[in-house]
Amino acid sequence: MEAFPGLIDCHVHFREPGLEHKATIASEASAARSGGVFVCCEMPNTTPPTNSIERLKDKVERADHARDVCDVRFFFGATVHEHLAELEQLLSDPSLASLRRHCCGLKLYLDNSTGDMKSEDDVTEAAFALCGKYSFPLVAHCEHAGTNDRCSCIPYTNAASHSERRPAISEVTSIREAISRAEKHNTPLHIAHLSTAEGMRCVKDARERGVKVTCEVTPHHLLLTVADYDTLGGRGKVNPPIRYSDDQELLWDGVIDGTIDCIATDHAPHLLSEKDTTDGMPPSGLPGVEVSLRLLLSIALGHWPHPTTKPPASALKLTTEMIRRLMFTRPNEIFDLHASDAPAIRIDKQGSYTITNENQKTKCGWTPYNGWEVKGDFSLI
Ligand code: NCD
Ligand code: ZN
Ligand code: ZN
Repeated sequence: MEAFPGLIDCHVHFREPGLEHKATIASEASAARSGGVFVCCEMPNTTPPTNSIERLKDKVERADHARDVCDVRFFFGATVHEHLAELEQLLSDPSLASLRRHCCGLKLYLDNSTGDMKSEDDVTEAAFALCGKYSFPLVAHCEHAGTNDRCSCIPYTNAASHSERRPAISEVTSIREAISRAEKHNTPLHIAHLSTAEGMRCVKDARERGVKVTCEVTPHHLLLTVADYDTLGGRGKVNPPIRYSDDQELLWDGVIDGTIDCIATDHAPHLLSEKDTTDGMPPSGLPGVEVSLRLLLSIALGHWPHPTTKPPASALKLTTEMIRRLMFTRPNEIFDLHASDAPAIRIDKQGSYTITNENQKTKCGWTPYNGWEVKGDFSLI
């Protein structure tokens, strides 16, 4: 029998407080657990954002009742210097040590995404310096398209327009800048939702020079390409956008050779009424926390779950050992989470499962993988 520990998803959005019509900590904690994810690191782009000690405390209290279902840790956010002053207090004041344990890092948006939390250059520079000083993980959303997420997007008259509006080069430029700041300040930098082969090469080169940089990739960038806009339309809109198959293939090489540290879903629930809007401006983001293990397990068992594409050459080299590294060992180390490695998930290699909108537990009630058949199944021990 093969077993996994409860897995870690180091990039989720649970929408509470302020956006509870999309999702709540309780709803998404139970979605996570049903997908074998016992620890989640939640992003600060709620309403209000998690950018003060008070607001962090509020989220920690809200998550208390769900802790047995899923242990939610929180990223601090910063868009102005005052937020960094709050973070420095959290990191340095011994009386805040117990609160500090619930905070897994600082999240910086180097371009706008849902929540429009882009940090300007001077704040970005100060944030890298602060996280370098305290050796505190800094997670960067790397894009450099200069867009406001909702307003300046080309509407969805042409489904692929989002991928053109935020092209690969916008991610690569932003990753280069972030790496050079990390190098200057000795900051432990983690690149969120890496989506380009060139960005991945930058990470690899920097690491070889001794820069402390790690990265994650999402299941959607590993499984979907721009061709999927045909079926997904606005549901496929996400930042950074889904890419062409050449990026997808090379990202898989990085998963297999160890350049990619983590697979994290960027679980970003939005309602179908919002995603299927007819104004051509759906919000960006896809749900994923409860299906990532199912999708990856299927691939590790030799079945590529996408109904109409062939697997990239490296994908079928994925093993269950690699899943453990990508969804447990590496995120546990990078964010110092002290998650339990006790066996918690029993794998059934003979089983199978069909992912459908109806069987999703997430409050948003849909999945971009609706109707996909996966090999393998699992149960919680
Ligand atoms: C995320 C969201 O909706 O919160 N959206 C997305 O397109 N990925 C925000 C983010 O991770 O950038
Ligand atoms: Zn992001
Ligand atoms: Zn995100």
